[in-house]
Amino acid sequence: MVTERNTGATRRGHARDVDHPYPLHLDLTGRRAVVVGGGPVGARRARDLLAAGADVLVVAPQACEEVVALADAGDLTWKQGRWCATDLDGAWLVHTATGDPRTDDAVAAEATSRRTWCVRADASERSRAWTPAVVRQDDVVISVTAGGDPRRSAALRDGVRLGLSSGALPLRRHRRPTAERGLGRVTLVGGGPGDASLITLAGRRALAEADVVVVDRLAPRALLDELDADVEVVDVGKAPDHHPVPQREIERVLVDRALRGLRVVRLKGGDGYVFGRGAEEAAACRAAGIPVDVVPGITSALAVPAAAGIPVTHRGTARSVTVMTGHELLGDDELLDLAAQTARGGTLVVLMGVSRLPELAAGLAAQGADPDLPVALVESGCTPQQRTTTATLATAAEVAARRGVRAPAVIVIGLVAAMAHPTRVVDLRTSAPAQQPAEEPAP
Ligand SMILES: C[S@@+](CC[C@H](N)C(=O)[O-])C[C@H]1O[C@@H](n2cnc3c(N)ncnc32)[C@H](O)[C@@H]1O
Repeated sequence: MVTERNTGATRRGHARDVDHPYPLHLDLTGRRAVVVGGGPVGARRARDLLAAGADVLVVAPQACEEVVALADAGDLTWKQGRWCATDLDGAWLVHTATGDPRTDDAVAAEATSRRTWCVRADASERSRAWTPAVVRQDDVVISVTAGGDPRRSAALRDGVRLGLSSGALPLRRHRRPTAERGLGRVTLVGGGPGDASLITLAGRRALAEADVVVVDRLAPRALLDELDADVEVVDVGKAPDHHPVPQREIERVLVDRALRGLRVVRLKGGDGYVFGRGAEEAAACRAAGIPVDVVPGITSALAVPAAAGIPVTHRGTARSVTVMTGHELLGDDELLDLAAQTARGGTLVVLMGVSRLPELAAGLAAQGADPDLPVALVESGCTPQQRTTTATLATAAEVAARRGVRAPAVIVIGLVAAMAHPTRVVDLRTSAPAQQPAEEPAP
């Protein structure tokens, strides 16, 4: 004979303890779920149950448009009529949302007599099951209940959602789903021009999930401090004219780690597709059969002038902008074309241009550009070291040399450069005006 000893019921009695519900996630795939009530609440429940793969029956004399559309599409069954006990035949879960407490009482009583869980939309205190506020991010599902206060649950859920989407919560997997074992993936993340706050939410999230981070010198490196201690950081930082890790080796590292099943983030400064060789890295990964995601970043070409108060286009002043590398010597034809652009009010934004500024400025002037054209050089933009130097096309090389202008710097050539502010326009962390750096008067 089997005797049940000391069940929970005898130990603690039957007092209900709604503050300590038993949380559970159900796999309802293919299982019958019944929604009694065809209004907006019933429709919402039906939609969520369908998303969970349930076989949904809605019972209601009238139904809102959404229920009718789902029924017409064959996604659920709508019994157009009054509720009766046999509607619950075969049900694993019941939701009642009729708006009529007597009907909801009857549905709940019938479900209870069948030992089927019933969620009441009308009176959570008379319910034995509740639907939580839910946030999903990929395969993560977080459910919140908060003392029977739905608005409080929703507010908490939104806070969790923000934490997940911003990468503030530790999303990194420590055990991989079976389907993912064997092959990792590479995410090329544009980190913005240097300040950690200028990376996108998608970039932050990718970092929060990374097992390996392959990082450049101009990336927002402060974010590396937030990584788990066991995340591998591969520093391939390139200084100007000094490339410690060749491009092919970087690509080899990306592919190698992803083939080991790891999630790899390639963290770059600015946008990886603006003088960032991002497309080469994506192609190398794809050629090796590795899935690649690309997260765009805020490019220094636009953000650094902005941080110095320079709009690269400006109504009535500049209608076009050309972003170019200053690393290579240009031929006369190209210089002629660029000089003509400046004559039409176009802005030239030059990256990697400090060392060849004398040749560029002289070449533009030789091809007819106005020697009085304003020039601004913005070093270490969007960082506490940001410094802006202003000059003209005729004086730029000499002023830059005298002031010791160094990479990284963005050079702006065009009328808009006259709008440069001597200090950083805002402090990115406090939104307060930035500290005035010790500055020579601009020439
Ligand atoms: C190889 S390019 C990479 C550009 C990057 N992919 C982007 O979208 O900003 C490097 C050049 O970008 C510019 N640069 C990047 N970050 C900068 C910053 N914070 N301040 C000034 N210039 C910057 C400099 O001209 C530097 O030499």
